[in-house]
Amino acid sequence: MQARILIVDDDHDILSALKKRLIWMGHEVLTAENGEQALRLATEEAPDLMLLDIELPVLSGLDILKQLAEKRSGIPPQIVPEVIVITAFGTIDRAVEAIRLGACDFLTKPFEPDHLSIVIEKVMAQMALTRQIGLLQAEVGGRYEHVVGKDSRMVELLDTARRVAGTSATVLLLGETGTGKEVIARALHRWSPRVTKPFVVVNCAALPESLLENELFGHEKGAYTGAVRREPGKIESAEGGTVFLDEIGDMPAGLQTRLLRLLQDQEFYRVGGVQSIRTNVRFVAATNKDLKEAIQEGQFRQDLFYRLNVISLTLPPLRKRPDDLSALVDHFIRRHGAAMSRRPFTVSQDALELICEYHWPGNVRELENVLVRAIALCPDDCIESEHLGITVQRRLPVEANFAEDDSLNYHAVMEHYSRKVIEEGLRRSGWNQTKAAELLGLQRTYLTRLIRQRGVSAKPPSV
Ligand SMILES: Nc1ncnc2c1ncn2[C@@H]1O[C@H](COP(=O)(O)OP(=O)(O)OP(=O)(O)O)[C@@H](O)[C@H]1O
Ligand SMILES: [Mg+2]
Repeated sequence: MQARILIVDDDHDILSALKKRLIWMGHEVLTAENGEQALRLATEEAPDLMLLDIELPVLSGLDILKQLAEKRSGIPPQIVPEVIVITAFGTIDRAVEAIRLGACDFLTKPFEPDHLSIVIEKVMAQMALTRQIGLLQAEVGGRYEHVVGKDSRMVELLDTARRVAGTSATVLLLGETGTGKEVIARALHRWSPRVTKPFVVVNCAALPESLLENELFGHEKGAYTGAVRREPGKIESAEGGTVFLDEIGDMPAGLQTRLLRLLQDQEFYRVGGVQSIRTNVRFVAATNKDLKEAIQEGQFRQDLFYRLNVISLTLPPLRKRPDDLSALVDHFIRRHGAAMSRRPFTVSQDALELICEYHWPGNVRELENVLVRAIALCPDDCIESEHLGITVQRRLPVEANFAEDDSLNYHAVMEHYSRKVIEEGLRRSGWNQTKAAELLGLQRTYLTRLIRQRGVSAKPPSV
């Protein structure tokens, strides 16, 4: 990998020898003979790496390191190069001091060219890794970072989430698939004092029992064949942070017992371990299963349910959040429009109406996918209904809300509805029975018979 390297040394001979060597290694080289020049080039030329002689006149190598550290932690923080310091033989104390001030490694003069290559490669590999982690975090976090919630039920839910985020209470997130449970779990972590510590996801449905146990609790060396060394589990690696137990409704029975014990005692054993480990993590669990039903069917421990259910938040399905729809549409077309084609998109009135009418069984995730597809298919900047690839199943007017004391006599209830439907069919078709039969999906003769049987008036009511 080629790097841009700034060499800082007041000794001409060393400077030119190092320069030659680094150019030969394929790097781009900048040079500075004093501290001031070095600091200027470090900001103006944005090198990846600085090879810094610690013995410089006026501004010493350690002074330069101090100033770079200030820039790095300033507000706003500046990107400064990683530093490898070059020290004279026998000045190990200064090398230690340099590392303390933020240098990532040191070389002692005189050094072999091979040693120089190894140190540079090691630092470069470390930098590539850090950059990659940053990109991945931005990618993963970005998807969940922005919480849209304008609908009154969501506003209330987010308000509660913000209040409980500060506590360490266990939170259970319920709701259909794609409603945003993981979005809220990550927000709970972001809004909590644990934000600087890890947020670790454990998918309880993804692994068979023994692997999941290992993933959660880790193992001791020799716990089973192949356990060649001690490995921490996800709970240990989340220390101080949040563990998100996703799909908790699918957790195997044996592990439910172990988890219950962990939640009660804040202690656990690694697989094959004899010493308990205390832990300080916050648990957030989520499922789209009906846990009460799972308890009845003997698939989920009731006592675990009560432990998890300290605070429970139920994400409403998208079809019950009409006021979130346009805000989510805006959010997704802005985000994906910019990422996919770097131009702004709009949504036509027709398309928006279709979006509002559709019942969204896959909830926010489905809406997001539909819009990503529409952006890809849309030839210009306006998304039309045909780009959405959804069709509306006209809503059936059967959302019956039964009161406790309503009669539930099947035939009586059905007859009542039948009469209502026929009356509505006739009204809509201007009391033309042929048209009404078509609208109702019935044979004309059968409709006439029903009208007679049910005693429905075949004429408009007189005013
Ligand atoms: N309130 C929201 N604001 C912005 N984006 C959201 C919101 N809710 C969900 N999303 C988007 O929808 C996608 C699905 O959300 P999430 O993964 O949190 O759903 P889930 O409830 O965990 O679903 P499942 O039960 O299938 O795991 C996310 O990638 C996110 O982009
Ligand atoms: Mg999820």
